Amino acid sequence: MTPDHPAPALDPELLGRLRADLDQAGVDVDALEELLGPVASGALHREDPLPARWRLRDVDGPLATFVRLFTLGDPVDPAEVDELLPTLTAAGLVELGLAREDGTSLRSTAEVRPYGDETRTWYVLSDHGETALGTSLPVDHVLGIGGASTTLAAWTPRPEVRRALDLGTGCGVQSLHLSTHVGEVVATDLSQRALGYAAVNAALAGLDLDLRAGSMLEPVAGERFDLVVSNPPFVITPRRADVPLYEYRDGGAVGDDVVASLVRDLGAHLEPGGLAQLLGNWEVREGQDWRDVVGGWLDAAEAAGHPVDAWVVQREEQDPAEYAATWSRDGGQRAGTPEHEGMSLAWLEDFAARGVERVGFGVITLQRPAGERPTFRDLVDHRGPVTTPMGASVLAGMRARTWLAEHDDAAVLDVAWSCPPDVTEERHTRPGEADPTVIVLRQGGGLGRVIQLSTVTAALVSVCDGELTAGVAAGAIAGLLDLDPDAVRAEVVPFVREAVADGLLVR
Ligand SMILES: C[S@@+](CC[C@H](N)C(=O)[O-])C[C@H]1O[C@@H](n2cnc3c(N)ncnc32)[C@H](O)[C@@H]1O
Repeated sequence: MTPDHPAPALDPELLGRLRADLDQAGVDVDALEELLGPVASGALHREDPLPARWRLRDVDGPLATFVRLFTLGDPVDPAEVDELLPTLTAAGLVELGLAREDGTSLRSTAEVRPYGDETRTWYVLSDHGETALGTSLPVDHVLGIGGASTTLAAWTPRPEVRRALDLGTGCGVQSLHLSTHVGEVVATDLSQRALGYAAVNAALAGLDLDLRAGSMLEPVAGERFDLVVSNPPFVITPRRADVPLYEYRDGGAVGDDVVASLVRDLGAHLEPGGLAQLLGNWEVREGQDWRDVVGGWLDAAEAAGHPVDAWVVQREEQDPAEYAATWSRDGGQRAGTPEHEGMSLAWLEDFAARGVERVGFGVITLQRPAGERPTFRDLVDHRGPVTTPMGASVLAGMRARTWLAEHDDAAVLDVAWSCPPDVTEERHTRPGEADPTVIVLRQGGGLGRVIQLSTVTAALVSVCDGELTAGVAAGAIAGLLDLDPDAVRAEVVPFVREAVADGLLVR
């Protein structure tokens, strides 16, 4: 642990008081959003504290003190801290290592953020970001809840299972979510400071986490899990002295090897049928498709003796300049400074050295198959909005793909499929014409898929009410439209498979 800024103290008694005081003060996501309003809240998301300071300029009371102290990192009168935290008090906050004296005022040494949903509020501690620090981040910075954290949390399938692993736990945010549906949570990190924060956040939430130090899968050698989640340190970083290697985003490997090695090795740590949910970046070289890259990782998993089924959704692609600008800015370097320009150049050179043309970002869902061979691989590009949270659709999508892989076309035709309530049909007709020129099936939830229908598949969907099997419906449609029944079945089967995989038809 870094001696000059250790993680807060793990003192259950004082942390209990902190939690009770924050609960009592009504600190939660909605209350802070209402206090700050959309403009100041939006600016804080962009690491701009000015609108929040301006909005609170004449506002007193515990919630305003909370924001000044723990969000903005401003100096606060200890009497106001005592008012916000009457049982912990300002002295207790200092004892916890969460604040230090600054003249006659008190300044927090960590960010505290309410986080949760309609059913619960957690308080999550992490290092202050650049908003409060006012400088670029130190390399051992422990990340709070960011966009990638909430993306992963939203996409994670949440079956009730016995054991889960949170790899690269950071402040422990994924483990908080896992605790709602998993019996035993193991959380690992290379950073001792991160594990310190995760321990404090678990204690604040009254949770028992099995925290382990070590790199990647080393701390869980020989162990298996029903679910693995990881927002890994996937940021591709040039290995050069003039580019900081932030612990929170750099896993210590060249290029995209951190994610490649996870995909290759994770199958060995999953129970049969167990799932892994990851975020990742992949480097796409000249003449390559991103599917070749991720497909190569899946081939490597099979060659290593632990094959996995995979559903990978690419959400974004950046060119080297966009990637360089994003990540040289991320640590707090202002655009246009010599440091920022030097770093951007380092990224461009690094990518050029490997012939990288684009960098993909996406969400990877893996499953250990029941048998020795993988049963499916579905790599799709989907840039548009998706339902949130996506986890239930991911779980249903993995189960549907498994079922489809295990059943032949005759079995697909033998099911009486139905359209779930979020699926609607749209008919587009040219003015003055009676028959539609375009018919589409639109999904309200999940990936929000839109599938264009033919006369045959539109007729099929119109009778998908869970009563008639697809095979019987195909026969009737052939008769009605005077078509060859085999040709109708040959059109119906791939459509049904596509619609079932993404939840536009269900059993
Ligand atoms: C992007 S952060 C994710 C934090 C948190 N899980 C979340 O979802 O916000 C990646 C985490 O991986 C950790 N890390 C970096 N290198 C690692 C390694 N080689 N092995 C394990 N964890 C590592 C970092 O310390 C950091 O906490």
